[in-house]
Amino acid sequence: MRTQVGIIGAGPAGLLLAHLLQLRGIESVVLETRSREEIEATLRAGVLEQGTVDLLNESGVGERMRREGMPHEGVILRFGGRSHRIHLSELTGGRSIMVYAQHEVIRDLVKARLERGGTILFGVKDVSLLDLDTPLPKIRFHDAGGATRELACDYVAGCDGFHGVSRPSIPSRMRREFTRIYPFGWLGILVEAPPATEELIYAYHERGFALVSTRSPQVQRLYAQCNPQDQAGAWPDARVWEELHARLAGSDGFKLTEGRIFQKGVIAMRSFVVEPMQHGRLFLAGDAAHIVPPTGAKGLNLAAADVRTLARALGAFYASGRSDLLERYSETALRRVWRAEHFSWWMTSMLHRFHDESPFHHRLQLSQLQYVTGSRAAATMLAENYVGLPFEDN
Ligand code: FAD
Ligand code: PHB
Repeated sequence: MRTQVGIIGAGPAGLLLAHLLQLRGIESVVLETRSREEIEATLRAGVLEQGTVDLLNESGVGERMRREGMPHEGVILRFGGRSHRIHLSELTGGRSIMVYAQHEVIRDLVKARLERGGTILFGVKDVSLLDLDTPLPKIRFHDAGGATRELACDYVAGCDGFHGVSRPSIPSRMRREFTRIYPFGWLGILVEAPPATEELIYAYHERGFALVSTRSPQVQRLYAQCNPQDQAGAWPDARVWEELHARLAGSDGFKLTEGRIFQKGVIAMRSFVVEPMQHGRLFLAGDAAHIVPPTGAKGLNLAAADVRTLARALGAFYASGRSDLLERYSETALRRVWRAEHFSWWMTSMLHRFHDESPFHHRLQLSQLQYVTGSRAAATMLAENYVGLPFEDN
């Protein structure tokens, strides 16, 4: 088999890249270890930045998102028993976010890809990358039927997430990794209930962080800071509600709406970046190259920004033989990556309780929250990072 760009992984990064390349007339093949049903059912992110929304709309895959997604113009920080609104659009010249689940984006992209005759090979195994520093790299794998196949390509896009094979295919002496593991995780639940709030609530409380998000008028997505080693079984429903009520309690009458919990899981929290994000003919994008803790809602959006940059660079190469954008891909992508890394770390540090935290640290966090919600300059800093900084086009 031969294609122009071999794409490993059908997450948001791989699928969006395939779509953006197709719009430029560049052929690709997407290889995915899981089944279509599995990737379309995996619950993850929920918040799309303005730039991600624009990208999906401009590339013709935003129709269902415009109908079913929920635009939000503000976000709430809650502490000291009170809610404080950050008016995102007023502070950013009209930019906002869209609450639209990641698996819905995946469904839209898979549908668009298959309708346009693009290839996604689901259920592949034993993927390995060969000859990355030659002009004809290859991807070897077993297809869903067990046959050994080889895909020869001009370029390989490693979009296979944090645990994929692409990043480790860069020789360890050629890459540098930056990691921070947080001493807490998030328990995430899905609940059958109407929304308790019109906008997302990020709550800081001495019992730990809590987040109230939404999926639809009937389904709510809630998170509570927990021990990263906890299994979901350590959180019977009664304990979940007790913690969430306590962490969101206040003097303003806010009341969380309870309902049937039909999904529960624990998420670990880490920050991670690999530099550079390219090696020979391999380009990494999305979680394969970087991870952020979910507090800033940046992971999916960074994946989208990476592949936008990569699609432009590959587009320039195939249209006019220009390779300078490809050569600068990592440098360009990493500027946005590190901004999002800092923002996600900052939001996480401001909003969580740390096990070794002193009363001094606690007072600093409260002071920071008061400043961010009280000063227009500080609120603007949060708002412009949260809705996403404009894309860089070089
Ligand atoms: P993935 O989504 O991980 O996709 C990689 C794909 O590659 C997978 O389908 C995998 O099966 C496949 N694969 C792996 N190995 C191989 C292989 N060897 N060969 C072939 N295929 C392979 N981000 C936000 O922006 N906003 C949020 O609100 C947000 N909330 C989050 C909440 C949670 C609970 C979690 C866990 C994450 C959240 N994120 C959020 C992060 C976001 O989900 C990820 O950053 C995003 O999924 C990254 O997309 P990706 O395509 O790079 O990787
Ligand atoms: C979500 O809705 O899943 C969500 C929202 C905001 C975040 C993280 C996750 O920061």
